[in-house]
Amino acid sequence: MSDLNNNDMKKSRFAEGLNSDRALADAKLAAVVDLDEKYYMNTFGKRTMVCFERGEGMYLWDTSGRRYTDFFGGIAVNVLGHAHPVLRDAICSQAGKLIHCSSIYYIENQAKLAEIIVKHSCADKVFFSNSGAEANEGAIKLARMYFSKKGMHDKYRIITAVNSFHGRTLTTLAATGQNKFHKNCGPMPQGFSYVPLNDIQALESAICDETCAVMLEPIQGESGVRPADLDYVAAVRKLCDDKDILMILDEVQTGMGRTGKLFGYQHTGVEPDIFTLAKGLGGGVPIGALCAKEHVALAFEPGDHGSTFGGNPLACAAGLAVMNTIISDDLAENASTMGAYLKDSLKRLPASGEGMGAMIKEVRGTGLMVGIEMENPKAAEVRQYLFEKGFLVGSVGSSIIRLLPPLIVRKPDIDALVGVMRNTPAFN
Ligand SMILES: Cc1ncc(COP(=O)(O)O)c(C=O)c1O
Repeated sequence: MSDLNNNDMKKSRFAEGLNSDRALADAKLAAVVDLDEKYYMNTFGKRTMVCFERGEGMYLWDTSGRRYTDFFGGIAVNVLGHAHPVLRDAICSQAGKLIHCSSIYYIENQAKLAEIIVKHSCADKVFFSNSGAEANEGAIKLARMYFSKKGMHDKYRIITAVNSFHGRTLTTLAATGQNKFHKNCGPMPQGFSYVPLNDIQALESAICDETCAVMLEPIQGESGVRPADLDYVAAVRKLCDDKDILMILDEVQTGMGRTGKLFGYQHTGVEPDIFTLAKGLGGGVPIGALCAKEHVALAFEPGDHGSTFGGNPLACAAGLAVMNTIISDDLAENASTMGAYLKDSLKRLPASGEGMGAMIKEVRGTGLMVGIEMENPKAAEVRQYLFEKGFLVGSVGSSIIRLLPPLIVRKPDIDALVGVMRNTPAFN
């Protein structure tokens, strides 16, 4: 057989091998999709056609072995990236000792995680939940109890912002200032009013004798990365002080270094009475936190609140590993510098001709919480195009692309993403 034929045969066997690998991977994905469609409630609509098998740092690999760079971080959760050795070792070691007992016993990790949050924030006391919605439920309940226990039983109303998002339980949905979430699951819990963000006059007019708290996100995440102005937050603080109202900040998305400071309120020069955390706190292990000033926290007395899983040894081991790593590796600072570099790179994309630059109306956000508002309603197409090129991003509505990468992101990954955006078609 000639060398030429020999080479051709090798190539064709290689291609056959590739084809059969691909067929196997496709079959594996199809089997998962089948199971999902048969047995899982469809609350997500049409999901992206991929199933991830493993991750490391900024990268995820799917069932076919294809690598993706993660600029979405499980919606702001994987702050340390994937399979971070410190987090992995903390979870594995804790799982080998004690996963769960009950909060009727003392839990070392729970006490230590509360301590580190208090030492690095304006809070004096912490309570752990399993999610952001639960942490916010706790915040709402604490604010109401604070006044009720002073005899002010009618001071229960909470003002939140239009387009806010506070969670999926009925009360946090009622707190969420978006009508679409209130449909078909009523009667909704009472006592919430909504005002446009960054309009202090509107807030002042909405306050009444029954108002017990104002609850805001430092940057609205789920509605498309919409920041509260720093002077607005300061004015809200003053108004709350003047009117004897509590200020609650929902830092479920903005906390844990995301915005370039450990907590979003640290940009504002003022401190909330209560703030909540979740998402990045466990780096992927479910845990939320309700954090409050001492005089407010005292409103919770024994029996007033609780949680079976909240603050268990495993979740708190994860929280400790994440908090310690964010602090020791200065990841909030990295979020600040990489966030500025990312925004700057996006703004430098050519504003005319081919590529995404011509579609961009505004780039906004702080640190590594970045929203790209586009001129055209093609966010889903852009997200899919980037996915096909190996980059994971989020989209909100029809025209906003959302970037929430792990806080470990470095320039080469940002350059790679922006390089692909340079050639992203306009989808007109
Ligand atoms: C600001 C904010 N609050 C609360 C929540 C709800 O958190 P969870 O999904 O952990 O209940 C979210 C989730 O996206 C959020 O972004």
